[in-house]
Amino acid sequence: MSYTKAAEYINSKINLTPEIAVVLGTGMAELADGLDNKTIIPYGDIPGFPPIGKNHHRCRMIIGKLDGTPVAFMQGRLHYYEGYTMEETAFIIRMLKAMDIETVILTNASGAVNPDYAPGDIVIIRDHIKLCAESPLRGENPEELGERFFDMTNAYDKSLIGLCEKCADELGISLPKSVYAYMAGPQFETPAEINMLKILGADLVGMSTVPEVIAAAHCGVRILALSGVSNMAAGIEGGGFNREAIDSAEPVIREKLMKLLKVIINKL
Ligand code: HPA
Repeated sequence: MSYTKAAEYINSKINLTPEIAVVLGTGMAELADGLDNKTIIPYGDIPGFPPIGKNHHRCRMIIGKLDGTPVAFMQGRLHYYEGYTMEETAFIIRMLKAMDIETVILTNASGAVNPDYAPGDIVIIRDHIKLCAESPLRGENPEELGERFFDMTNAYDKSLIGLCEKCADELGISLPKSVYAYMAGPQFETPAEINMLKILGADLVGMSTVPEVIAAAHCGVRILALSGVSNMAAGIEGGGFNREAIDSAEPVIREKLMKLLKVIINKL
């Protein structure tokens, strides 16, 4: 896949040089409204971008300034449950790397396995558990991007986590650090699966982020991953898929996340 061609195309459309990107999770697209001097590039116009089908209008890259700092917001991401291969789900990260963006903030919506969390909470992801065997790096190793075997110890960059904690303190937001369990979806989990994840040490569950984090660790992109709790996970009191509850958590998450992103990006 030609990430370089994609990056060249984007660079030809913009006059800013963002060094930071934010991948927006489900329900967070509106955060890109906060950018000034926006250039909008639909994913479908980017050479080599995996086909995005009927989501064309909602999937786009928005480059602009957040309180004066150039940044790229990725509105819409590629999920494995949509039928993309794991390698395709890594496309955005590799394209950003080809643009020389080496710090990426991944955001997502998740279910809380940890009963101390509540819908609307923002949580820092410090590590993950992936039970599904697939990996974006399965198969021939793209040597130009990174080595065959690679370390995952600092996949969630500890210095970025430290910075994020400082910013949260400043804002008076409490941000627990958590373990995120990746499930392929699209079905939500059964209560027995959530119980298993709890026993394994997971605090959150979701269907994104992990393939991107693996691709980022491989090609040397620093990741900060922030999750917004949209619901309690199945089998936890009040948990499971509930559209109304999820819809009411989303604006709370967006408001906190935007405050946090502004402060973090300003300090990066
Ligand atoms: N399970 C899996 N993915 C999710 C959930 C959940 O409960 N909530 C948001 N994304």
